[in-house]
Amino acid sequence: MSSAAELSDSEAEPGNTSDRPYAGGIPEATVARLPVYLRALYALAERGVTTVASDELARSTGVNSAKLRKDLSHLGSYGIRGVGYDVEYLVYQVSRALGLTQRWPVVIVGAGNLGRALANYGGFVTRGFRIEAVLDSDQALVGRKLGGLIVGHVNDLETVVAEHSIAIGVIAVPAGAAQAMCDRLVAAGVTSILNFAPLVLQVPDGVDVRKVDLSIELQILAFHAQRRSAERFGQATDHTAAEA
Ligand code: NAI
Repeated sequence: MSSAAELSDSEAEPGNTSDRPYAGGIPEATVARLPVYLRALYALAERGVTTVASDELARSTGVNSAKLRKDLSHLGSYGIRGVGYDVEYLVYQVSRALGLTQRWPVVIVGAGNLGRALANYGGFVTRGFRIEAVLDSDQALVGRKLGGLIVGHVNDLETVVAEHSIAIGVIAVPAGAAQAMCDRLVAAGVTSILNFAPLVLQVPDGVDVRKVDLSIELQILAFHAQRRSAERFGQATDHTAAEA
């Protein structure tokens, strides 16, 4: 999952696709950072903090404070000079912008290691998502209890989508089965897909796919770790040279 807070300035340049106005006139780069602000705001609210200065919120999210203020201004939120932002109201504004003031019904396709972990995670409910069903093709899994649900058979996917007005489909099946599952979700009317399978899904216009690839995140961390270690090594060499 790419950390929105790490989106570079260049990604927010006009003309870059990530700056394309999103529904509601909010640039996509801003939309990508909103969940990061929301997570920090929830943490503040849990600690009983009622107001937060933009600098403090910026620090806790790793976004520079001018950018954060600009992002929040897209939501019509400007904060009060010398006081900052009302945490509870900002949670509401960010949630509203992200469409989280309503619960989104989700289906998880694949009840293997990943599907089970997702289905068992209680945090989605408080973040605006309700997992309505978990489906699998393995008869040994169908009928098993999982996170308050019973694993259903994937043959019922279309019925489940219609019955629960599913808005988001999560694909947690092996790569070989993912495109077919995606096609079925789309044909059933699902227009938002979160894909964990290691392949690029083909979807028609009007369908949003977000791909999650933890190995890419690890590779990016490895790159930064390597760069830090090269810098340390370089500094040590310079230091030694200066002392000599
Ligand atoms: P798993 O093998 O434990 O589970 C896969 C499940 O999919 C099984 O229960 C299987 O019965 C089911 N399945 C297979 N074909 C199906 C079909 N046509 N319809 C419905 N269910 C079907 O695998 P795991 O570890 O849960 O991984 C699932 C997927 O997520 C894989 O594609 C894996 O590569 C990917 N993955 C991605 C990660 C990421 O960072 N993006 C991290 C871990 C896994």
